[in-house]
Amino acid sequence: MESTYDAVYGRWLSDPASFWAEAAEAVHWFKKWDRVIDASRPPFYRWFPGAELNTCYNALDLHVETGKADWPALIYESPVTNSRKVFTYRELLDEVALFAGVLLRRGVEKGDRVIIYMPMVPETAIAMLVCARIGAIHSVVFGGFAANELATRINDATPKLIVSASCAVEVNRVVPYKPLLDQAIELATAKPEVCIILQRPQELAFMIDGHDFDWTQEMAYARPADCVRVAATDPLYILYTSGTTGIPKGVVRDNGGHCVALKWSMKNIYGVEPGEVFWAASDMGWAVGHSYIVYGPLFHGNTTVLYEGKPVGTPDPGAFWRVISEHHVRVLFTAPTAFRAIKREDPVGNYIRKYDLSNLRTLFLAGERCDPDTLLWAEKQLGVPVIDHWWQTETGWPVGANCAGLGLLPIRPGSCTKAVPGYDVRVLGEDGQEIPAGQNGNIAIKLPLPPGCLPTLWNKDSEFLESYMSTYPGYYKTADAGYKDKDGYLWIMSRTDDIINVAGHRLSTGALEEVLASHSDVAECAVIGAADDLKGEIPLGLMVLKAGVVRPHDLITAELIRMVRERVGPVASFKVAVIVKRLPKTRSGKIVRGTIKKIADGREYQIPPTIDDPAILDEITADLAAIGYPRK
Ligand code: COA
Ligand code: AMP
Repeated sequence: MESTYDAVYGRWLSDPASFWAEAAEAVHWFKKWDRVIDASRPPFYRWFPGAELNTCYNALDLHVETGKADWPALIYESPVTNSRKVFTYRELLDEVALFAGVLLRRGVEKGDRVIIYMPMVPETAIAMLVCARIGAIHSVVFGGFAANELATRINDATPKLIVSASCAVEVNRVVPYKPLLDQAIELATAKPEVCIILQRPQELAFMIDGHDFDWTQEMAYARPADCVRVAATDPLYILYTSGTTGIPKGVVRDNGGHCVALKWSMKNIYGVEPGEVFWAASDMGWAVGHSYIVYGPLFHGNTTVLYEGKPVGTPDPGAFWRVISEHHVRVLFTAPTAFRAIKREDPVGNYIRKYDLSNLRTLFLAGERCDPDTLLWAEKQLGVPVIDHWWQTETGWPVGANCAGLGLLPIRPGSCTKAVPGYDVRVLGEDGQEIPAGQNGNIAIKLPLPPGCLPTLWNKDSEFLESYMSTYPGYYKTADAGYKDKDGYLWIMSRTDDIINVAGHRLSTGALEEVLASHSDVAECAVIGAADDLKGEIPLGLMVLKAGVVRPHDLITAELIRMVRERVGPVASFKVAVIVKRLPKTRSGKIVRGTIKKIADGREYQIPPTIDDPAILDEITADLAAIGYPRK
């Protein structure tokens, strides 16, 4: 198929309002919009003001009412518990309507926040859709975060109710969630009135009388509840993501723009038709999980796969191929790190050839920069187009992609191809001026952002302005750096802030440093993202001890590693820390983290001209060599 990308992009660029009005026709509205976009208060743009809809109605009821009730909506595949369940659209709707009744009975009202701290089970998607159904605002917290991180989110979102489960099941251990939840509520200043707990047989939770209620028992008494009408501009959810400090940013997603953008993306970016099986192998705690495990595929009438397992070890590197062949998956979406994990255990693809993958049409990768080796390996092994695409929690759907539904453009490994219609992506110099093709700069998106992107941060308009809108007036700052080549292909190379990307998970080195600095023996510290063959980057901590500390270094580093696990969570994968005599700084006292990273990665570096004492760089080189850096 000849690509229509240029024509579609041009059509959007010449008249964005008509473009999105046309896309919005695919959505079910209780009431149509007064205007497509309200641009009266830039940079606070609002999409489809005046319109009313219900996100859950668009995901479920609509399909049931239009003859798709018996189509499979969700396939739960759980190699870690050895179970599988398929829900048709009618079955999923019945569960959702009933659990909506539970939340209403427990006092949740339109506009209330509900935190969902859950593993990868269907009840997580059900709880999200229930919130959408009754107009409550959900905030899903990834299960790999510790109690302290959950407490921070509870304080910011002030939920009326929390939905959780007794445990998660990881590859070789059961992770009890309830003690973490109880600890988080203890730590938080905002106290939810009620918790609803899904008791899983792998580990039963202790329930607090009058505060914790059993999911199954609650369902037994519930009466199904209908969809409420919400404004297109009402928030659907808050999703916290790493900022530059220990306080995460509450990215807000609205109902109307979100539904329009995701529906458009399923057909035009991912190239799937209703009824086809779409699998995003991610976690519902991340933006990918929100958009492409739950909402996007259901809006579009697809069958979504909800997978509780890993690419390797559950039980082997053939796990993905088994699921694809058994469920006729058409499109797989995952992070490059998953493929690096598979490649490491099955370099010549023996497991791939054990399965019939003839239904697989396209593989999409995102979440971190995709190294060309991984992309080419996947392409060779699977024999399908492998598409690197780029987006952020903030945008909620891809910014740069090769739009399969518009006909693929030639793939250039290392590039996420071109800006998706809706996004006017520019590369700016420090002065905010656009810089020529081929030159590295700051990647920004000309305002307004398209529907589906964050309208603001939860309760923090000023931080929204400061973080994203003030550096380059008229543009959204992505905090990614890279370039556009002469043909308009985008090359996203790195972050411009102190965010690192560990196995596709976004972490703030600042947040990790806050934990290390709170240790009584630590005078100062720096965390960098060291290159890692599997996870892309892993955090590496360098600490200077206070004068007079004589305790063994091994003991102190072990304590620090434990502290990060306990306060941030296992997701940080913080396993390497080294005590150094001094940290290299500029004359104004700024730690030169970029140079430390280059030393750790074994890359050439230039001594920063403003460095205070260049000899410290040699000390750091020796200290890192002593713990095996740069890695061979
Ligand atoms: N609840 C509790 N703990 C969790 C968890 C959860 N929901 N999710 C992860 N963890 C824990 C893991 O058990 C692990 O703990 P450990 O250090 O004790 O082993 C730690 O958090 C890190 O988890 P993870 O990042 O998943 O690393 P891993 O080593 O277990 O697996 C990969 C590595 C590459 C296989 C895995 O990261 C992966 O599949 N990534 C690609 C898909 C993806 O999720 N991408 C996200 C964005 S698209
Ligand atoms: P998150 O908000 O967790 O989705 O992380 C977003 C960040 O991940 C982006 O700002 C990028 O730094 C990085 N990222 C995501 N996808 C890609 C990609 N395809 N190429 C390069 N970087 C990516």
